[in-house]
Amino acid sequence: SSTLGAAAAGSGRYFGTAVAAGKLGDSTYSTILDREFNMITPENEMKWDTTEPSRGNFNFGPADQIVNHATAHGQRMRGHTLVWHSQLPGWVSSITDANTLRSVMDNHITTEMNHFKGRIYAWDVVNEAFADGGSGQHRSSVFQNVLGNGFIEQAFRTARAADPAAKLCYNDYNIENWSDAKTQGVYTMVRDFKARGVPIDCVGFQSHFGTGGPPAGFQTTLSNFASLGVDVQITELDIAQASPTAYANTVKACMNVARCTGMTVWGIRDSDSWRTGENPLLFDTGGNKKPAYDAVLSALGGG
Ligand code: G3I
Repeated sequence: SSTLGAAAAGSGRYFGTAVAAGKLGDSTYSTILDREFNMITPENEMKWDTTEPSRGNFNFGPADQIVNHATAHGQRMRGHTLVWHSQLPGWVSSITDANTLRSVMDNHITTEMNHFKGRIYAWDVVNEAFADGGSGQHRSSVFQNVLGNGFIEQAFRTARAADPAAKLCYNDYNIENWSDAKTQGVYTMVRDFKARGVPIDCVGFQSHFGTGGPPAGFQTTLSNFASLGVDVQITELDIAQASPTAYANTVKACMNVARCTGMTVWGIRDSDSWRTGENPLLFDTGGNKKPAYDAVLSALGGG
């Protein structure tokens, strides 16, 4: 196969990208998008500050643009994200009453998932709930501080009830290195959820890497999580300076794990990246394929 999406499909996987609604009218952008990618994650449009800017007032317009584009071009969608401490409107972060926050969180999950029902392959139900550093515990957030440790379980149970057909993922960064306390914290949570029947189907490894690419144990991490009975996915891949070897190593780690169902890069051209000046993506600012593109295509089994 000669495109990323088709090459990934050759092994039953997908190859996706983050998309910004405001760029869909840029023909260089949309031409690459529709040629190469068969999964789309909205970069910002499904986040709480956009979708429920004030209590009970929902705005799905920007996300609908992306979902409609995906439907028209045969691409699947990852939903990103329902419960996250960032890009969270002030009216949510200032809630101090647990019953109020629980009902606000459940209503947000249910309303957003219902709106997109049948059009989302997998949802990042909870994003980045674990702390950086050595604690292995949840980070401080309004959800953690007001609802306590059970907020993640509550969010997943509510999500399953809202759309039983969607896959439900936990998504985080810096959980790629098996020996890190943060990785172990997430692993312990997923193991506990599976043991107690809390609904969870997948774990997303964001994979925002430095110049060297993935940590040496990345494949071990993917396979250890998969052994718990969840799918694993690379959800926001970008690598400073986009070394072809670093990209190929990342893709190979996924290809070597049967339950690694797909990979998503966090943007199309370097100019689309949140990592200004790091040139971390597969296409240059002019939309030309970079050496990392060829390395990824070949690691996917294409070429
Ligand atoms: O839309 C406003 C615009 O109205 C305003 O004029 C402008 C001025 O700053 O800001 C615009 O919002 C920006 C938004 O992107 C849309 O472009 C925000 O400032 C900016 O902070 C926001 O950045 C996003 C970032 O998440 C915020 O946390 C990035 O685009 C997005 O790539 C990034 O994605 C996250 C994932 O969701 C989760 N994992 C980490 C990843 C990288 O940070």
